[in-house]
Amino acid sequence: MSIAAQPSTAPTKTILRALAGEALPTPPIWMMRQAGRYLPEYRATRAQAGDFLSLCYNPELAAEVTLQPIRRYGFDAAILFADILLVPQALGADLWFVTGEGPRLSTITGADGVAALKPTDAIHDTLSPIYETVKILSRELPEETTLIGFAGAPWTVATYMIAGRGTPDQGPAHTMREGAPEAFDALMDRITEATIEYLSMQIEAGAEVVKIFDSWAGSLKGDAFLRYALEPAKRITAALKERHPGIPVIAFPREAGDGYIGFARATGADCVAIDNSVSPEWAASHVQVDGCVQGNLASSHMVTGGQALIDETQHIVRALRNGPHIFNLGHGITPDADPENVALMIETVRNCTD
Ligand code: CP3
Repeated sequence: MSIAAQPSTAPTKTILRALAGEALPTPPIWMMRQAGRYLPEYRATRAQAGDFLSLCYNPELAAEVTLQPIRRYGFDAAILFADILLVPQALGADLWFVTGEGPRLSTITGADGVAALKPTDAIHDTLSPIYETVKILSRELPEETTLIGFAGAPWTVATYMIAGRGTPDQGPAHTMREGAPEAFDALMDRITEATIEYLSMQIEAGAEVVKIFDSWAGSLKGDAFLRYALEPAKRITAALKERHPGIPVIAFPREAGDGYIGFARATGADCVAIDNSVSPEWAASHVQVDGCVQGNLASSHMVTGGQALIDETQHIVRALRNGPHIFNLGHGITPDADPENVALMIETVRNCTD
């Protein structure tokens, strides 16, 4: 990127400073799924909305649940309240959630299904309420809080579009990518294009950072990882940075293991989010060398709490403090978490100065 394309003033918000490569004495902190069912105020607003998807598409209520964990805990960032499966819905898939089980979608099994998807421009008909949520948030968030937009990565989104639900091993998507590679590549292209347009609109509406969630990247190995996790992240990052110079991107190729090494450099992402299957010391020497690292406390500590939570939180802060770090969980907080444990985690991070 040319020097002229850099923002003219250095960022002041802590998350933006970490993303620009600064090692801060106390890492900024936010939490995946911070607006969620472990919070009584979330459950109340969700009941008011009726169901999860109605909540996602109601800008006032979606903004309200995004703000709830900011008010309660003072996190350094807010993440837009929405879901990665809204993009398939905007492309024409049927989408619904089965209580206690998870998402369900109409399935795509071959070229016909890909050809029947709506054109990319049409996604905004469905997704415009999400842009409205972002606009409300950029007005209402405290000035020190960073607003993060997001989308699913093409591979993860494709796994749901092909199987019609979450799967333990992403088997149906692997079968299609091996058995019908042309149709699979066409689907990946369609999702990649839609994701670029969707994230671009979030940035225009006021998102200051975007995160790409590749929750199932870990099931791609070798060349398949490069082709279907790394390449799409690179393409999306390059397109966004060309349209919105200086926009920071967080990539989360979850459970990538050694695939985390060099991922930021190869994709152009400013930060790699890591899950808790890798140690923070390993991440410091292998991933933080390329820039900011986000993570990686096991979300189970939000259920169990106590001294183990304190010890592991301090361990992560200390291991990653010599480079740019954003404190987070290794995956989303679960509905059975105790809100008191979240407060204890934040207090531990902010008091860990030795
Ligand atoms: O992090 C945040 O707080 C931002 C909002 C957000 C949600 N989902 C809200 C949500 C984000 C970033 C997501 C991402 C998402 N959604 C992913 C990728 C990240 C990950 O967790 O691996 C995936 C795979 C999905 C698809 C999805 N949506 C699943 C598997 C589920 C769980 C279904 C269930 O009932 O547990 C959802 C629903 C969902 N998305 C909830 C929330 C708060 C719970 C919905 C509810 O209120 O019932």
